[in-house]
Amino acid sequence: MSTPWWQQGVIYQIYPRSFQDTDGDGVGDLKGIELRLDYLAGLGVDAIWISPIYPSPMVDFGYDVADYCAIDPLFGTLEDFDRLLATAHARGLKVILDFVPNHSSDRHAWFLESRVSRNNPKRDWFLWRDPAPGGGPPNNWISDFGGPAWTWDEATGQYYYHAFLKEQPDLNWRNPRLRQAMYDVLRFWLDRGVDGFRVDVLWHMIKAADFRDNPINPSYRPSMGEMHRVLQHNSTDQPEVHEIAREMRRLTDQYSERLLIGEIYLPVERVMDYYGNNLDEVHLPFNFQLIDAAWNARNLVSLIARYEDALPAGGWPNWVLSNHDRPRIAARLGQKQARVAALLLLTLRGTPTVYYGDELGLDDAAIPRDRVRDPRELREPDLGLGRDPQRTPMPWDGSPNAGFTRSEPWLPLNADWRERNIEALERDACSILNLYRRLLALRRTHRTLSVGDISLLKTQGDTLAYERRSGDTRLLVALNLGGTPQFVSLPSWARGGKVLLSTLDGSAIGQDSNLVLRPDEGVIIAPANSYT
Ligand code: GLC
Repeated sequence: MSTPWWQQGVIYQIYPRSFQDTDGDGVGDLKGIELRLDYLAGLGVDAIWISPIYPSPMVDFGYDVADYCAIDPLFGTLEDFDRLLATAHARGLKVILDFVPNHSSDRHAWFLESRVSRNNPKRDWFLWRDPAPGGGPPNNWISDFGGPAWTWDEATGQYYYHAFLKEQPDLNWRNPRLRQAMYDVLRFWLDRGVDGFRVDVLWHMIKAADFRDNPINPSYRPSMGEMHRVLQHNSTDQPEVHEIAREMRRLTDQYSERLLIGEIYLPVERVMDYYGNNLDEVHLPFNFQLIDAAWNARNLVSLIARYEDALPAGGWPNWVLSNHDRPRIAARLGQKQARVAALLLLTLRGTPTVYYGDELGLDDAAIPRDRVRDPRELREPDLGLGRDPQRTPMPWDGSPNAGFTRSEPWLPLNADWRERNIEALERDACSILNLYRRLLALRRTHRTLSVGDISLLKTQGDTLAYERRSGDTRLLVALNLGGTPQFVSLPSWARGGKVLLSTLDGSAIGQDSNLVLRPDEGVIIAPANSYT
């Protein structure tokens, strides 16, 4: 049975500023990604998703786009991009771009026109409103980065709305011309051959037509960040957003095997709506549940079960451990459980997305105050909301600046880069990098691990176990989420089976009706009679 590449495949997220610099400016670039494609192909991933590379004032590091159909000179040229795409394809790697449709940069030509006058043809491409009747912003909406979501424009005497920074005005997706212009952007990249898009803040794209106030959040505490003062009931997740998702999907479906992923931070049942009633919206609404899950077996069992149950018929699951906006998995769980988490990510049913550097166990870096770059941290400091710690340069080897750049990197390297770099971890057979390699190789050999069914088994203590099955092939995955040995009672078919992989030193451990999991160990077991 053939399944689309993105159901079997593993996606790898590249934060381009931090992957590989080739021109010596301390910031990664497209040539750098091209240079490292062999590493990625060797790691065993199937697709790369590259965070924004378009011309941008970089106030939000590329998520403020000044031109949707070009490449920022910092990263290279359109020719560099075409070559990267062709080289990636030649190695069997797909390329997914970041599409940022909710807002542009305030330097985008459309916004510059829009702010010229109230009757400029582009005025309605953004969200301009008069002050509230008593003066002040039109409503109580708050920017996701703290502070008011409305900025006053003296020249034309109105406010414009921005869900993020004032340099990121929201686009008006109720305007049909704007919509068509954005669909032309999708076509521009699809025609060049990109394999899909990760759609930035998809659930933000349409706001309640009457712009009524958001309700006050009764559970707000200042440590959460100011955006949580209100519940975003009216500023996000409006029914009309689904019409846009359907349109984007129809357009994408005119090309073969292209993928749409949606960034959506919502409760799981609401995330499901973005598959579409007839699976006609995004293929993969990102499933971020593991990103802030309490790391214990009972919680993980219930969130996996709840997610699987909530999926619409035919909806394909996906899993994410961390990304450029959230703390790294090793920072949350420590090095030992980061390995268990890798096993979980790469053996659950559904498409995994691996964040660059997680395969090295990169930790969040301590960023000295004078090197903070993230606007999130600069606006609301010391709440732990800043994103620089998880965006540090990829440490490739033990040479100066870890082989990332010839000059000062834009963010500091991980403090332990001399030991924790790709070259060093490659030499250590037991490193987390080699664990990722083995896991990715096993997924390729055992299709069951990517496309098989899943059933959770009953376990005791802080353990999690599930069976993956396709046809006659069965594999068992068992994980110890804590620091003490645990027993897992094996189903009869797995007794006396063979350990295909352990997150520890790889040696087979004796099994009877009980499997003994060492502290922080996860294993994959194949039945004794299997041909593997
Ligand atoms: C998304 C991006 C994040 C960015 C924000 C505004 O959440 O992942 O990095 O700051 O959108 O564009």
